[in-house]
Amino acid sequence: MLLAGDPHRPQYHFLPPSNWLNDPNGLIQWKGQYHLFYQYNPFEPVWGAIHWAHAISDDLVHWRDLPIALAPTPGTVDEYGVFSGCAFDSDGVATVMYTGVRRRADGSRIELPCLATSTDDDLVRWEKYRGNPVIASAPPGFDVLGFRDHGVWREGDTWYQVIGSGIRGVGGTVFLYRSLDLMHWEYVHPICTGDRGESGEMWECPDLFPLGDVHVLMISPIPLGKTLYFLGSFREHRFEAQHRGVVDDGGYFYAPQSFTDDHGRRVMFGWLREGRDPSAQRAAAWAGVMSLPRVLLPAADGALGVEPAPELNALRGRHLGVDSATVSPATPMQVGVQGVALEIVAEFVPAQAGQFGLKVRCAPDGSEQTLIAFEPGSGWLSIDRERSSQDAAVDREPHGTHVKLAAGENLTLRIFVDRSVIEVYANARATLTSRIYPSRDDSVGVELFAHEGPVRLKKLDVWEMGSVWGANA
Ligand code: FRU
Repeated sequence: MLLAGDPHRPQYHFLPPSNWLNDPNGLIQWKGQYHLFYQYNPFEPVWGAIHWAHAISDDLVHWRDLPIALAPTPGTVDEYGVFSGCAFDSDGVATVMYTGVRRRADGSRIELPCLATSTDDDLVRWEKYRGNPVIASAPPGFDVLGFRDHGVWREGDTWYQVIGSGIRGVGGTVFLYRSLDLMHWEYVHPICTGDRGESGEMWECPDLFPLGDVHVLMISPIPLGKTLYFLGSFREHRFEAQHRGVVDDGGYFYAPQSFTDDHGRRVMFGWLREGRDPSAQRAAAWAGVMSLPRVLLPAADGALGVEPAPELNALRGRHLGVDSATVSPATPMQVGVQGVALEIVAEFVPAQAGQFGLKVRCAPDGSEQTLIAFEPGSGWLSIDRERSSQDAAVDREPHGTHVKLAAGENLTLRIFVDRSVIEVYANARATLTSRIYPSRDDSVGVELFAHEGPVRLKKLDVWEMGSVWGANA
């Protein structure tokens, strides 16, 4: 099938021209331009032969593909794969720390930190450091279940680096190292270690950064398959968690990375997995999508705040607005703007209401529909895909999260529909991201519903969203 004609291929989320994408890597704003590197298999739409691919943007929304930045080099420390890592400014030189991967004869992996630098303004050409790896082994004395993925920062003259790992039988951990020259590293200690029963046995993609007056640690634990965040203190290079949450409980958002841009904002991208099997991915010739850029904020209630980057507003086209209406079981509201690429902002007054919400990608006869529902009693916000597609092979299990509303607080849902991607933001502090694959071309309707009793809609805005890929999307 022609990729441009594929009805499931998003039109305003970033994705490669074809084949496989996973984690965002090396996020950095360099000489004004945003750079998005990512885990990429250039040969097939399934994981394997991992390279770092590269795209560039002036506005976080429109991207231009650049040549592959880093490829495995046969006979070296990264011959099996160039795994995840970060980018940073080393005295004016763009530098990345990534995981070089080799395989032993028994198939097990050797994962070690490696450096590369670029002196181009566009960061197109990269030179790997000849002395790679810069750390020869995981810290002695630990039986580790992986040693990969990097975060690097500087304090005065000293560089620090965190690396994701897990201690067999104990739990996930993040090891800390320090260096004066980026080439020689001294092991410090684990900044924190989890309990494998609670937070998994191996922590992938650690991301540690200050936000407001706390520190945030994000980790993507095996086998949980979803990203956790901890808010806490980072003193004497040890992280102590005070608050814990799930970054996105929709079931598809994983391995995010964040960076501070020239506006001082903390911007995060995550990998959105597919909800269909490898044979469907092969038939489509692509797999994996990047989330929308999300701005992280300290939230009032001690949780992590999150909003879509305001640059996305540039994609808004035809608009429909409704000021104040009542939605009831007998009078659901059909919305006059339909489509496969929409932004919807709906503010509800949940007081005294039963379950209510929106249906998107609805067929005229209701045979396909995806529900985004809120239950005020329990605070449960969910995505129901039971009827999202007539294709029986795609994922349909429900996902949800609790959104605790303060007394008198309204619920504002901001929903991005982009063909097979749905991102839901609730009150700028909870997100659910999901994948759907409707089979019918006319599954484009939007409807508001209330199940047990009426709910007051304070305001509704719907926009058709433009494409970031030009005419052939
Ligand atoms: C997370 C991850 C990382 C690793 C990369 C390999 O999705 O498994 O731990 O570096 O993907 O592609």
